[in-house]
Amino acid sequence: MITIKFPKGCPAQGGYRRVDESARLLGLWCLWIAVLRILSVLLVLFFSACSAEINVSDEPPYRAITDTKKFMNWILDPSADVIWGASGWILTEAGEQDLTPTTQEGWDAVRNAAATIAESGNLLMMPGHAMEGDDWLEISAGLTATAELLIDAAERKDSEAIFNLGGTLYNVCVSCHQLYVLPEATQ
Ligand code: HEC
Repeated sequence: MITIKFPKGCPAQGGYRRVDESARLLGLWCLWIAVLRILSVLLVLFFSACSAEINVSDEPPYRAITDTKKFMNWILDPSADVIWGASGWILTEAGEQDLTPTTQEGWDAVRNAAATIAESGNLLMMPGHAMEGDDWLEISAGLTATAELLIDAAERKDSEAIFNLGGTLYNVCVSCHQLYVLPEATQ
């Protein structure tokens, strides 16, 4: 006679029993069933966690809020105006006026506008904003790259670089409009 512990679900329904030597094999078998049961639960948990992750990356919950026209008028154009309005000179009645920022807040505003433009390039590449063709993606990437240089120039307070990059920025806008904006829309 030996004493073995039977797992729940086995004929002895848990607990120790003194059994015949021949019952030892039955006890071991029941133990294996119990182990396999735990493993199967862990496997199910593992795979359900994996599939949940796949679902999340398959369908990120973003939605475009603005159509292209609003995107241009409300996001991109105002930010570009901040850049163009913060370098070079204008002639006023009082004479020539340097547009270069004179305060930290002024430089921060240029940097923030550049960051908005940089991320706008990314947004323009996303479903909901992107239009057909590789040109769209390339020009949008160019918008982000130019704005990234503008962020750097604003951090360095380099007004000459901002002036030159402002020109590049304008060319990026025009290159997309020439390809994608219907002629009547530009009139
Ligand atoms: C990747 C392409 C792309 C880039 C880059 C781009 N635009 Fe546009 N833009 C468009 C399209 C397309 C329209 C036409 C939208 C419509 O009328 O539906 C448009 C229209 C506009 C309009 C006119 C909106 C109206 O009310 O009709 C303005 C203003 C504008 N863009 C400003 C800018 C500025 C400023 C930049 C650069 C800083 C820029 N865009 C860069 C694609 C682009």
